[in-house]
Amino acid sequence: MSLKKDFKKYSLNTYARVGPVFVKGSGSWLWDGKGNKYLDLFPGWGVSILGHAHPAIAKVIAAQAKKLIHIPNNLYFKEQAALAKEIVLASFPSRVFFGNSGAEAVEGAIKISRLYSKEKYEVITMTDSFHGRTFAAMSATGQKKYKAKFKPILKGFKEVAFGNLAAFKKSLSKKTAAVILELIQGEGGVNVASRAYIKEIKKICQKKKILLIFDEVQTGMGRTGKLFCFQHYGVKPDIMLLSKGLGAGVPISAIVVSNKIAGLMQPGLHASTFGGSPLVTSASLAAFKVIKKEKLLNNVNRIGDYAVKRLKVLKNKFSLIEQIKGKGLMLGIELNCPAQPIFLKCLSKKLIINATHGNILRFMPALNVSRKEIDKGLDILEGVLSNS
Ligand SMILES: Cc1ncc(COP(=O)(O)O)c(C=O)c1O
Repeated sequence: MSLKKDFKKYSLNTYARVGPVFVKGSGSWLWDGKGNKYLDLFPGWGVSILGHAHPAIAKVIAAQAKKLIHIPNNLYFKEQAALAKEIVLASFPSRVFFGNSGAEAVEGAIKISRLYSKEKYEVITMTDSFHGRTFAAMSATGQKKYKAKFKPILKGFKEVAFGNLAAFKKSLSKKTAAVILELIQGEGGVNVASRAYIKEIKKICQKKKILLIFDEVQTGMGRTGKLFCFQHYGVKPDIMLLSKGLGAGVPISAIVVSNKIAGLMQPGLHASTFGGSPLVTSASLAAFKVIKKEKLLNNVNRIGDYAVKRLKVLKNKFSLIEQIKGKGLMLGIELNCPAQPIFLKCLSKKLIINATHGNILRFMPALNVSRKEIDKGLDILEGVLSNS
């Protein structure tokens, strides 16, 4: 109890914390200090893609900590070079910059869009998008509630309705430098962009020489059943942003810049003290290895399909469910009522999921989650919905 009091007294009040005090985790499970076991189907807000305390990640971090934790980015070290190569070979011809968080990656991408052209500086963003809490990332975010108290926000961002091609076309001007979007909006409610929409945006961007930025902070690293979500769409971006699952738990982000424009960045224009340290890049390399070795993309597709089937059964049973949304293991249940009370009831039954965008329940389990764990979680949810 005194720990919760200390949080209240000494930590800035930015988070509405709930639940017990967690002390350890393993796979899709967390334990509180009293030995109670919780099923975590939203580990680390989508960060802990291999679940908690994966032995391969723990081993690499421990070994790396004994060798070299940090070294500045004006010196050479092998882990960062190896990770950049891994990402490039798995995505598209490009060069990579490493930072520490999703928002930091967004900031860097916006800086690149300014380098791209002197005359063009506008960035098109999407309604219900989420790009982070730093100033430019917040300005790019298409949700009023995050910006209302921080006006004036940065100029140069134009918001258009997600999925509406006509609105996108109408928003373009001679000043348009870039468009930033999530192929599947996460925090904004698990909204999946259609293939036709993305293909058309790509065509327009190519024709008008507008940079296409895919924010894959949440959809990257296997979350949707392919290593990167753009691979479902057959459309390559000019810039891809990664974070969350990239380090399987350690803070790391990447700006993946296509070779066509990578030359815009030169020494002195951008930097990050901690970005891509030996510690975090070695953990990320280990995560890539585990995804391959444990064939986790297959698991995401198999378990994702299974979860959707079960969720559809729940939809038929409960009239408060409007629709099931998402792809792979990025799933949302749209309710016709607030989602937070359902999230809290699930937590009281020792199931961790997420409530977002008012009425959306969200699941982003570890990529190695089992069918049995999904069954257990959905059984708990079913019980909660029965009493709601
Ligand atoms: C798509 C997307 N972009 C950017 C961010 C911001 O990431 P961070 O909180 O690491 O700054 C998030 C976080 O949820 C996100 O989902």
